[in-house]
Amino acid sequence: NWRMEDFLEKKIREIRETVGENKVILGLSGGVDSSVLAILLNKAIGNNLIPIFVDTGLLRLNEKSEVVENFEDLGIDLVIVDAQEKFFEVLKGVEAPEEKRKIIGHTFIEIFNETAKKLLEKHGDIKFLAQGTLYPDVIESKVCGSKSAAKIKTHHNVGGLPEKLPFKVIEPFRNLFKDEVRQIGKILNIPEKIINRHPFPGPGLAVRIIGEVTKESVEKLRKADYIFIEELRKENLYDKVWQAFSVLLPIKTVGVMGDYRSYENVIALRAVNSEDGMTADWAKLPSEFLNQVAKRIINEVSGINRVVYDITSKPPATIEWE
Ligand code: XMP
Repeated sequence: NWRMEDFLEKKIREIRETVGENKVILGLSGGVDSSVLAILLNKAIGNNLIPIFVDTGLLRLNEKSEVVENFEDLGIDLVIVDAQEKFFEVLKGVEAPEEKRKIIGHTFIEIFNETAKKLLEKHGDIKFLAQGTLYPDVIESKVCGSKSAAKIKTHHNVGGLPEKLPFKVIEPFRNLFKDEVRQIGKILNIPEKIINRHPFPGPGLAVRIIGEVTKESVEKLRKADYIFIEELRKENLYDKVWQAFSVLLPIKTVGVMGDYRSYENVIALRAVNSEDGMTADWAKLPSEFLNQVAKRIINEVSGINRVVYDITSKPPATIEWE
């Protein structure tokens, strides 16, 4: 695609001119946008890019090790911050979705800023902060900022805003849509497993656990979600849906296990097709496939005795449950 190749060459030139011999920090989530951005910056300025990966404790099963390995393979070193305890502490007793989002957003910025300050003390020449902001993020924040639009969710993106930090922000993807970022990823030969990943929200699994987030609830959801995604990949369905995930519901329902009554939590499966996340249709996954996923979740995840499939489109529902 000549248009994207031109765009890419131009961006690399621009980044080199802007950054010079200085350093750039970047919040890396492992998702498509920040990964492609990190690789692009690495190509443009090499080791002058310092990517920061924060383990919030709200990541999917094996996610941290996969991200670390993917970047090791590409020869890019990450600064890894383990903030799991901090996030569980601040989320204790919090149930309201917007409160969760705000707390996670603030905590993330706090941790990112602390890390940035330490890095700044170590290398004096960090002048820039790169963010993988996309065009829809720019639009959405404009809409959310206007008085007439009802605010639906406070979206949080890795990196947040660097209040009081002496960095200039660079956002090379500000005018792009997600599929264009994927095209750039392809031109840069980024492995498919990175560029074809489903979107994952900034607040992570916390917005997929309805009610209080605890270590135990995260463990349960991680296992169920892993099974769903593993089965989608096995049946070649992963790339056919735009996004898929599991949600842990705090309610308990009655079931029967052998001769015994069980009283356990519910997992909801969500899979959607979409262009840009603004609207979405629920994915008509084969019933045999759903049956197989439900059986595995019940058998392999303790504390779950019921699995349901979400058949609501957006609108009226949103993609995430919180
Ligand atoms: P909703 O739930 O608003 O989600 O229909 C639309 C798309 O956005 C993702 N999402 C987020 N992405 N930070 C993000 O970067 C967030 O806080 C956030 N919340 C939702 C969601 O996964 C879906 O792809």
